[in-house]
Amino acid sequence: MEKDAPAVSQTELEQWAFVCEASDCRSRGSSQVRDALVRAVQAGGCPHVAVVRTGCLSLCGAGPAVVTYPNGDVHLRVEQSDAPELAGQLAAGGSLRRRVVRAPQ
Ligand code: FES
Repeated sequence: MEKDAPAVSQTELEQWAFVCEASDCRSRGSSQVRDALVRAVQAGGCPHVAVVRTGCLSLCGAGPAVVTYPNGDVHLRVEQSDAPELAGQLAAGGSLRRRVVRAPQ
């Protein structure tokens, strides 16, 4: 896993977002989702939030998939436009609001 995190030690990080970048999620735009989330976290000045690219989360077909830690929320069919909301909620330290999974296209 590679990390796109602010310059704080890992022990200072409180919220993590793992973005699947295995083949199926990548074909559905997960790299662009991760980039958008990194930009949103940086723009929000959220030094305690890390955005991490990860391998397959076994949620193929429903990606791009994002899982948070420590809350353990699972977000499916995440789009770039979701990044500001996700970054804001991660920065607030609360559990991310669950939303309806988008229907497959
Ligand atoms: S490729 Fe992303 S969950 Fe499997």
